[in-house]
Amino acid sequence: MAETKTWLIVGASRGIGLEFVRQILAHGHRVIATARKPGSALEAVVRDTAERATVLECDVSSGESITRFTEQLVKTGVKKIDYVVINAGILEYPNRTLEMSFDHFARHLHTNTVGPIITAQKLLQQTEVAIGTIAFMSSDSGSTQRFLSFEDGFAAYGASKAALNQALRHMAEELKRKGRGTVILALHPGEVATDMANIEITWEIDGGQISAEESVRGMLEVIQEKTIERTGTFWTWENVEYPW
Ligand SMILES: NC(=O)c1ccc[n+]([C@@H]2O[C@H](COP(=O)([O-])OP(=O)(O)OC[C@H]3O[C@@H](n4cnc5c(N)ncnc54)[C@H](OP(=O)(O)O)[C@@H]3O)[C@@H](O)[C@H]2O)c1
Repeated sequence: MAETKTWLIVGASRGIGLEFVRQILAHGHRVIATARKPGSALEAVVRDTAERATVLECDVSSGESITRFTEQLVKTGVKKIDYVVINAGILEYPNRTLEMSFDHFARHLHTNTVGPIITAQKLLQQTEVAIGTIAFMSSDSGSTQRFLSFEDGFAAYGASKAALNQALRHMAEELKRKGRGTVILALHPGEVATDMANIEITWEIDGGQISAEESVRGMLEVIQEKTIERTGTFWTWENVEYPW
C-alpha cells in the first residue's frame, strides 16, 4: 500500500470539500476536515474511519475562528500535513457590480479571498506542524487572462477569486524568498454539480457539469503530482495549466 498521508480539508461540510474527505479516506489516508458547524453529512462520512479522521471547526470569514482552529490543530499533536485544500467558498448569485451592496461584495471577499489567505498564513506561521502543499480552490471565473464576459451575475465572485489568485502567487514567492518548501497551488475544479452550481444561469456550460466525484478524483492527482518547481501555478481538475 502507498504511504499513508495526512490531508487537511478546510470547508468540508458538503459539495467538493466533503467529496475530498470521502475519497481521501477511501484511499486509506488520514484526514483533518473542518466545517463551520460540523454536522451530519461530514460525521456520516468519517464515522467508519474515526481512527483516521479528525473534525474541527473553522469559519474562514472570522479571524478569531481561524486562530482557534489552528490552535486546535496543533493540540491534535499532528506533526506534518502533506496536503492542505482550502476549499471554503461562497457564491451569492447574482452579484452584479451595478446592483450589489457593500456588504454583498465584502462577504465574497471575506470568504473567498481574505479567509483562505489568512487560514494559510496561520498554518504557515505556527511551527509545530510542517505543511507540504496548500491548494486553494479558485475558479475559472477568477482568471483575468481568460475573462468569462458571459458570466452575468458573477462580478463579486469573479473578483474575489481573481484577488485570491494574485494573493496566493505572492504567497508562493514570499515562501520561495524564505527558502521554504511549501508548494502553493490554485485549482479550478470544473463546473461541478453542487449546491453552489444549483442556480439559473443564462449561458450553456461548455462540456456540461461534472460530478464532485469526477472533479475530486482529478484534483487529487493534480495536487499530489506538483512539486516545489511548480509552486505558484494554476491547474484544472484535468491537469491542464490555466492562465491567470
Ligand atoms: N461548483 C462549482 O462549479 C465550482 C466551480 C469553480 C469553483 N468552485 C469552488 O469550489 C469550492 C467548493 O464549492 P462547492 O461547489 O462545493 O460549493 P458548496 O456546495 O456551496 O460548498 C461550499 C463549502 O464552503 C463552505 N463554506 C462557505 N462559507 C464558509 C466559511 N465562511 N467558512 C468555512 N466554510 C465555508 C460551506 O460550508 P457550510 O455548509 O457551512 O455553508 C461548504 O462546505 C468553492 O471555493 C467554490 O468557489 C466551485
